[in-house]
Amino acid sequence: MNQASIHKYLATESKKTIANDVEALFEQRLATNLTLIKDLFFSLYPEKDHKKSFVKLLRTLPILFEQRPSPLKLLDIQRINEGNWYQSEQLVGMQLYVDHFNKDLKGLEKKLGYFEKLGVNFIHLMPITPRPQGENDGGYAVNSYYEVDPRFGSTEDLLDLTQKMRDKNMYLMLDFVANHTSNEYVWAEKAMAGDPKYQNYYHIYPDRTLPDEFEKTLPEIFPMTSPGNFTFNTEMKKWVMTVFNQYQWDLNYSNPEVFIEMLGNLIKLANLGVDVVRLDALAFMWKKLGTVSQNLPEAHALISLFRMCLQIIAPGVIFLAEAIVAPKEIIKYFGSGTMKGNECEIAYNATLMALLWDAIATKKAVLLYKNIHSLPEKPKETTWINYIRCHDDIGLGFEDHHIHEIGWNAKSHRKFLLDYYCQKIDWSPAKGHMFMYNPKTGDGRITGSAASLLGLEKALEQENQSKIEQAIAKIIMMHGIILSYGGVPLIYAGDEIGALNDYSYLEDHDKKEDSRWVNRPHQDWDTIAQIDAQKNHHSQIFYSLQHLIRLRKQHPAFADRNNIILYEAHNPHYLIYERPMGKNNGVLVVCNFDEVPQAIYENTLGSYGSKSNPTDLISGEKITFPNGTLRLMPYQMLWLGKTK
Ligand code: GLC
Repeated sequence: MNQASIHKYLATESKKTIANDVEALFEQRLATNLTLIKDLFFSLYPEKDHKKSFVKLLRTLPILFEQRPSPLKLLDIQRINEGNWYQSEQLVGMQLYVDHFNKDLKGLEKKLGYFEKLGVNFIHLMPITPRPQGENDGGYAVNSYYEVDPRFGSTEDLLDLTQKMRDKNMYLMLDFVANHTSNEYVWAEKAMAGDPKYQNYYHIYPDRTLPDEFEKTLPEIFPMTSPGNFTFNTEMKKWVMTVFNQYQWDLNYSNPEVFIEMLGNLIKLANLGVDVVRLDALAFMWKKLGTVSQNLPEAHALISLFRMCLQIIAPGVIFLAEAIVAPKEIIKYFGSGTMKGNECEIAYNATLMALLWDAIATKKAVLLYKNIHSLPEKPKETTWINYIRCHDDIGLGFEDHHIHEIGWNAKSHRKFLLDYYCQKIDWSPAKGHMFMYNPKTGDGRITGSAASLLGLEKALEQENQSKIEQAIAKIIMMHGIILSYGGVPLIYAGDEIGALNDYSYLEDHDKKEDSRWVNRPHQDWDTIAQIDAQKNHHSQIFYSLQHLIRLRKQHPAFADRNNIILYEAHNPHYLIYERPMGKNNGVLVVCNFDEVPQAIYENTLGSYGSKSNPTDLISGEKITFPNGTLRLMPYQMLWLGKTK
């Protein structure tokens, strides 16, 4: 039972008299979380030196609660009562850049009907906060945490949008770039002007002694464009820690003032009507000499501390962990040990994402099985964001020992994947690009749109109809997996119509070094205007996804209750998992990753064999088993339901 479940219990079960009293419920949540907050705070900021800061935090919490708009306070109570609303099969997400989608926030509002048509009701807007002119990492260098950059519109526009979205039962996710600010953020400017208070808000050093010590163990995130982890600032004549880009200054959370001020920023962001806060780069939030300064226990304590405070002030708002790290580390962002279930409610399923791309390239799901089997079950109050593409690159974040255990050489396997996706192998259908290749280590990541990586761009160039169809089948199957695997499916805008790579970034001085822009296309409204009239690959993909989304929402088995069971397929090309529910309401998902038809024995399907007279929910057809086998076409996917 996590803290949220306790709040639900207390709010709804025990003291019915205060059920609608927002103030009393605030006091109750404060009392319930206080000891945890105290323990977490003093674990990071030892009591003997930081008692005053703790008292300041305690004084701040009611002030922040005061700032929360009344309608959102009421919504919070509704959310508490609903419980784990984010695990519902009704949620289907889309991620987009506001300016690339339809110009600005007003333009986006005009397209709410488009989301409804597809079935999307959860939207992740990429950063809309003010940022430096020129390079700004797509807005991940922030000049403010809660203002709207005029290029996207105004705060009014955002409030308008969030109100409209709430009216339509749609959810909004925005970023909280908690690890760093831009070098133009007000604190950075004060630090540069020589204010020691604000120099202590960042990791700033007078000479290279400590930076050199740090560099011995810190990896490089952008080795090609931003090598090293420190930048010399000519105004201060000091070194600033800049783990990402040189214009992104890492915040110093070992200073409790930073935590308290950032909590204020977080609440101001939440008060705009945000339902899910994406905690950007949260694995990096605590730095310690002699370590890689990622996934440190202190970072987990810090995130839990944010969580426990946010839960008191705005309990309807939850956290998504943007931790694109090793599989066994990702799961820890749900909270572990005494904080199990009390850190982030949602995390990106980067493990599944990377393994799906592995399965496409190898045409086998064996590495996927190996990895997923090795992971512990996540806490029951949590869920995944399942996705195949996003604005970032694809990192091959799975572990070497799993590759070895299935009899492959890890180094050559990783090289094969980079070659396959980045146009180094003639026969490969993929048209991806290498991102941040590090010749020292041989590590690299992959960029490219889903459709281009899955072969559509090349097949269209070659005007090869059968390859076009195969690419479409892959696009649909990959989305079918994220729609049926437990969690919130997040479709990347453009993928629903098979958007190809966008090479226009090569013309832009501020973007051309960052090939992630190849997979940040502009929404093609001309094409979308034609999808009803024309039968082509765009309409085929769009309507297939729309159909799958409808089916997802009709089957409660797709809600995430940790109800997923991987079946051993005895054929390496197959991926099979069940989403069980009661005796007859479960769904068995069966996918063929091979480019030729493949068969498996009926008994591989457990209770979904001929005895249960199964139907494929997708096609609506009864399944037959010639010679006791099930045969799937290349990249075919079935969602089997038992006929009752
Ligand atoms: C996250 C974002 C990425 C950005 C980085 C630094 O990983 O997804 O786009 O570059 O954080 O903010």
